[in-house]
Amino acid sequence: RLLIVDFGSQVTQLIARRLRELDTYCEIHPFQHVTETFLRDFAPKAVILSGGPASVPDAGSPRPPQAVFELGVPVLGICYGQQVMMQMLGGRVERGAGTAEFGRASVTPAGRGLDLLEGWFAEGPEQVWMSHGDHVAALAPGFEVFGTSPGAPFAITADPERHFYAVQFHPEVHHTPNGRQLYANFLKIAGFTGDWTMGAYRAEAIAKIRAQVGDAKVICGLSGGVDSSVAAVLLHEAIGDQLTCVFVDHGLLREGEAAEVTGMFRDHYNIPLVHAEEQDRFLDALEGVSDPEEKRKTIGRLFIDVFQEHAGRIEGAEFLAQGTLYPDVIESVSFAGGPSVTIKSHHNVGGLPEKMGLALVEPLRELFKDEVRALGRELGLPDWFIGRHPFPGPGLAIRCPGEITRDKLEILRRADAVYIDQIRRHGLYDEIWQAFAALLPVRTVGVMGDGRTYDYACALRAVTSVDGMTADVYPFSHDFLTETATRIINEVRGINRVTYDITSKPPGTIEWE
Ligand code: XMP
Repeated sequence: RLLIVDFGSQVTQLIARRLRELDTYCEIHPFQHVTETFLRDFAPKAVILSGGPASVPDAGSPRPPQAVFELGVPVLGICYGQQVMMQMLGGRVERGAGTAEFGRASVTPAGRGLDLLEGWFAEGPEQVWMSHGDHVAALAPGFEVFGTSPGAPFAITADPERHFYAVQFHPEVHHTPNGRQLYANFLKIAGFTGDWTMGAYRAEAIAKIRAQVGDAKVICGLSGGVDSSVAAVLLHEAIGDQLTCVFVDHGLLREGEAAEVTGMFRDHYNIPLVHAEEQDRFLDALEGVSDPEEKRKTIGRLFIDVFQEHAGRIEGAEFLAQGTLYPDVIESVSFAGGPSVTIKSHHNVGGLPEKMGLALVEPLRELFKDEVRALGRELGLPDWFIGRHPFPGPGLAIRCPGEITRDKLEILRRADAVYIDQIRRHGLYDEIWQAFAALLPVRTVGVMGDGRTYDYACALRAVTSVDGMTADVYPFSHDFLTETATRIINEVRGINRVTYDITSKPPGTIEWE
């Protein structure tokens, strides 16, 4: 296995992701834990020293133990990792002074060929992503230069004899398009064969959960979404009935959703499940509320109370499990105070662990969405479930602009079900990031049979997206849209007009509120 020593870079997890994509197992450990004894016990086949915010010339800046360089295994230093490596092996690092580089840079080859760079520079200079203030001023003995950029004469350096490699840029980020090749080369040099699988990840994750939790009881909030579901099934496999799930039914779910969730978890997986049927409390609290933010806040507040109440009845619980993913971790760090905070605080039941005196278990914290789906498949969750479109925490409340009533929710549920059924029948579900109906707060005049109607209008929404941050409208055919409109008007009482929302994001958001 491979050891990543983390010096606190924002993108350390991306290194792990790149290695997993190359079917290689690695572990990230913070530099404080990596002592000489730790190293000998871990016995890594290769070591990567990550980037980080510290400055090597500063007294007390973090260092790995010198033993890293005495293991006889390949070592790759990235950014801060490069600098720390140079300094410890006898080179010199200097502070900024006009050579800082942030963002894209172009690296050109220098010197002779290097095994780490196989497949690089085939079409000229390589684009890379830099983020450094300090720079290497003198190479350590044994090192040579293999690539340079305008601000980093030592962009790529190596001691090929000892298989020590040190680069100033970040090969793990998207903006270094050929970075993956560099990691593949490094793994090959270290003798990895790429035989690690999601099955192995599952076994390791289970061992970690057992080690963290011991005999204690764990509560897991289940939303019906993919993340919390995968977390719950994984936890159940690890600790069995020490786990209890709490599923808060706020009355704002889609048609059949509550039955699907309880059926799958309680009946199929035999996971102890509290189905908190609190529809009335939520709908009563929402009576007369039409401002979108007010709605969200009302639901968020009540959700925390209700969850706490039900979870509080589970005796002896010491842990709260959350399906937090790595992007949630980065977002809450880098966008703190930004517009995504409200979304996240609801989504992650933020603040609850402290309020309830519970410790956190977050078994998906290192994973990205597509990896969670792969893990879910590995755990045997059905494909139709894993491929589900995202559904927002406040549920149908934000798809029903204006005041919410039980009648309106019922009409919306029916329309949404017909729309989704149409999409599935036409085989389009997996091409779309998210599709749903919104019930508009206006009634319009229509004619059906020989009579006049005066009913609600609904808007259909369907978008493609990679991460929900931006989105394009899905280009349905005209036939599909007219067929769907006809079905909704025929099958749903209370709707006599259907529109298709053709706004991308930005300027629109995906949800209507
Ligand atoms: P917007 O509407 O902001 O939505 O373009 C982007 C993505 O986030 C989802 N969303 C939420 N998810 N709690 C959630 O868990 C929320 O409060 C929330 N609001 C929006 C939305 O469905 C879309 O996928």
